[in-house]
Order: sequence, then structure tokens, then C-alpha cells
Amino acid sequence: MPDRKPLISGNWKMNLNHFEALKLVQELSYQVSTDDIEVVDISLHPPFTDIRTVQTVLEADRLPFHLGAQHCYHEDSGAFTGEVSAGMLSKLNVSYVLAGHSERREVFGESDEMVNLKVKAILKNEMLPILCCGETLEEREADEAESKVAGQIVAGLSGLSPEQVGSMVCAYEPIWAIGTGKTASSEDAQSMCAVVRQTVRENFGDEAADAVRIQYGGSVKPDNAPELMSQPDIDGALVGGACLEAESFGRIIQYRLVEAE
Ligand code: 13P
Repeated sequence: MPDRKPLISGNWKMNLNHFEALKLVQELSYQVSTDDIEVVDISLHPPFTDIRTVQTVLEADRLPFHLGAQHCYHEDSGAFTGEVSAGMLSKLNVSYVLAGHSERREVFGESDEMVNLKVKAILKNEMLPILCCGETLEEREADEAESKVAGQIVAGLSGLSPEQVGSMVCAYEPIWAIGTGKTASSEDAQSMCAVVRQTVRENFGDEAADAVRIQYGGSVKPDNAPELMSQPDIDGALVGGACLEAESFGRIIQYRLVEAE
């Protein structure tokens, strides 16, 4: 079995100002131990206005969290009012950037082409994309979940090398499970993450497919994380609501301790 270190990511979405960010990161640092960091990578994805503050506290206190972002624009610079470039994020030591989150696709009209440009810009600036995919409830009921997700993965990764794909992260987030309290069953989550890996295998080969890390996202909580994380094709979690409190995010990070009980 390939050795893929799990990645647990907290997507703060549009929550917490920079004062609140500081408090959460400090509380989280008390929850997480050096043992955790040896077996799990952790990334925090605050809003843009918090990133410099979070970077400063992570570096000053040498906290073992990777800094993440939720979005960037694919151009390097120019007349793009309101946007932030990948290069600006990498200067703040951001390591992971979400691309193609369903809220960006649905609320801000990001197309597969824009997501692909963003993925390329993130890699060009030596950060790792977390490429998100997922189906709506209507698509699931119409038996279109697999084709939707495979299509998003093929489009999002278009033009990349197998090495680039192997280095990055994909996140399967069924839209009907986001913020609703409805989690996909661990069997459904596993089978959809297997579709993502198989799509990578068919398009980029075995090495890329065995190396790419695949997260599940959608109402991940401390009590469902152990079972989700025990699935063979699930290598991490992309957490929304439950990452806004140190206690619940800490318990998700320590999912393996529950498993051992
Ligand atoms: P929730 O965990 O709040 O369902 O959000 C999931 C998500 O969208 C993470 O990116």
C-alpha cells in the first residue's frame, strides 16, 4: 500500500476576523500534540484578511500547521479588482490553496476552465492545490455523480504532468453534504474517492494515482471522522463548520485515538 500521509484541512470560509483567528490558532495549538503531527498534516485556510496574522503566529510560535488559502486568481498581477494572486499567497508562506470549491463554482460562477488555470497558477508558485469536486443531490439521484466528479477531475487537472498530479490533493465534497449535517455514508464517500483515484489512474498513471491524496468533505465531525478516515481511498478531511472550534477540530485531527479505543 502506498504511504500517503493524511491531510486534515480546516476551511474557515468567510468566518473569523483576524483577532478571532489568532485566538483559534492559539487554542488549537494546545489541542494538537507532536505525536499528531508525525502522522497527520494539518492545514488552516483562513480568509485573506487573516492570513498575515496567522502566518506571524505560526512562525513566531513554531506551530506545526500548514498555512492555506481558500482561493486565488490565476493571473500574476494587473487590473483585476478585488483579486489576490497565487504569487502573493506564496510570499506569505501559504502551502495549500483550495481550487474549485463548490461555493466558488456555484456562488461565483467558476468554470472548470477557471479552476484549471487556478490549479496551474498555484503549482507554478510552488504551493499545492486542493482540487475540489462533488455532485448536487439532483445529479446523485439521476445517477450522474460519478460522471460529474470524473469530469471535474479531468478538467481541473488538464495539462498537468503525472508528477504534479501526484504531489497534489483532491477533495470529494458532495454538495448536498456541505453544511447540512448530512454526511455521505462511509461506503459512498469511499466509492466516490475511489472514482477520483481511478480517474487519476486512467489519465496520469499508477504513480500519480497512488500518490495523490484524496480528502472527503461534507459535515465531517469528531464522531464520523474515524470511520471516514479508515476507508482505503480517503486520505484526509476538508472540514468546514467543525473547524471553527478548537475542541472539535482537535478531535477530528485525533481521529485515530478514537479508533484505538
Ligand atoms: P461543512 O464541514 O461545514 O459541511 O463544510 C464542508 C466544506 O465545504 C469544506 O470545504
